[in-house]
Amino acid sequence: MRKGRLNQPAAELAQRYSESVSFDWRLYRHDIAGSIAHAAALARARIITANERRQIESKLQGIQKEIESGKFKWDRSLEDVHMNIEAALTERIGAAGAKLHTARSRNDQIALDLRLYVKSEIAEVTGRLRSLQTALLDVAERQIDVVMPGYTHLQRAQPITFSHYLLGQVEAFERDANRLRDCLARTDVLPLGSGALAGSTIVLDRERIARDLGFSGVSQNSVDAVGDRDFVCEFLFCLAMIGLHLSRLSEDLIIWSTTEFGFLEFSDSFSTHSSLMPQKKNPDMAELTRGKTGRLYGNLISILTTMKALPSSYNRDMQEDKRALFDSVDTIKSALDVFAAMLPELKINRERMNSSTRDPNLFATDLAEYLVKKRVPFRKAHQIVGELVVRSFAKSIPLDQIGIAEMKKFSPHFEDDVAKIFDVRGSLAQRRAIGAPSPENIAARIKRWKAKL
Ligand code: ARG
Repeated sequence: MRKGRLNQPAAELAQRYSESVSFDWRLYRHDIAGSIAHAAALARARIITANERRQIESKLQGIQKEIESGKFKWDRSLEDVHMNIEAALTERIGAAGAKLHTARSRNDQIALDLRLYVKSEIAEVTGRLRSLQTALLDVAERQIDVVMPGYTHLQRAQPITFSHYLLGQVEAFERDANRLRDCLARTDVLPLGSGALAGSTIVLDRERIARDLGFSGVSQNSVDAVGDRDFVCEFLFCLAMIGLHLSRLSEDLIIWSTTEFGFLEFSDSFSTHSSLMPQKKNPDMAELTRGKTGRLYGNLISILTTMKALPSSYNRDMQEDKRALFDSVDTIKSALDVFAAMLPELKINRERMNSSTRDPNLFATDLAEYLVKKRVPFRKAHQIVGELVVRSFAKSIPLDQIGIAEMKKFSPHFEDDVAKIFDVRGSLAQRRAIGAPSPENIAARIKRWKAKL
């Protein structure tokens, strides 16, 4: 197949350097689907006969079975997945196989294979996001009555419920699913028929090919179509964002599993031990996910950097897109699988979480809002409660034990009913605005997510 202008075979060294079949063989299913649709288009244009088309289709299906059963011999000297499959086809059916590459280049062929691959992986990743959301939702429902301190700057801030935290995670992964859907819209465009960069003098019905392959649109500029890897960049960004979300979730769980917090415990099956310290139980799955996120970012930066100064249309540099793409797909799918399996097994220390909300300082803001409800301007109320907090620390008297007589010295608006401010359930019940953690809101959100998922 190598020839054209070249008189000498490639140097062994150059061959090994430039081959991609050792990793792009993974695209075989999409490559074959694309070739079958292309053959059908060639038959419609009377470039090949109906019989040749049938031969091509059935041999390609045979090759696919061989690949899937592990019997197919990949030949690195044939460079890539496209050449390997085409060579095998031609070896089996001769002339008809040699006609398949009419009006097609590997440039539009690889663009097609990649788009088909990304489309199918968007569905795979989305399915796993749904499983993870379902796992989070199940825990949220089981632990619906557990209260806990909410943190900002990792300092105790205001009370929330554990379910509210988990539902927040569900929201983030929902954005990820939506982002993938947006990415799909731009990926779902057929590049085949763009040829090397300038289409072909042999005119094929590209809209029909798009329909055969399940694309919603057809690329409108052949130079752009063979040089466009925006969809790869976008997809890798989507995966990096999922990694970011998993990494932050990991971080929370790791911190909460420390003895210092003691909010939860990973199950033994998702923990590791120390080869040295017998007492250790380490949250390695979460740590590895946090770590792998670095690689997801690296893959995104890698493709962006590869593309950034390329002349328009196809350049061989673009072959380097695949390692990053495959690695991110494999990484995110395994991370999502691990989390969906690990979360239901988390042991939640309900008593410890609940009792952590007995810290009266968590209600300092409620106290200020108590004054606001008595018409004190918020800034003033904030200052009054601030002074009370200083007093509480100075005298080592908890905020809820200062006593009404003393409190009245800070503001005459404090009355006996102030005692109920320090009740966590009462505080949560009042947080009724959309998005806030009142029990009604959380129950409604769980119901809504269950219906959706
Ligand atoms: N293996 C190549 C890639 O992944 C396929 C396209 C090769 N095109 C070419 N003109 N050499 O990008």
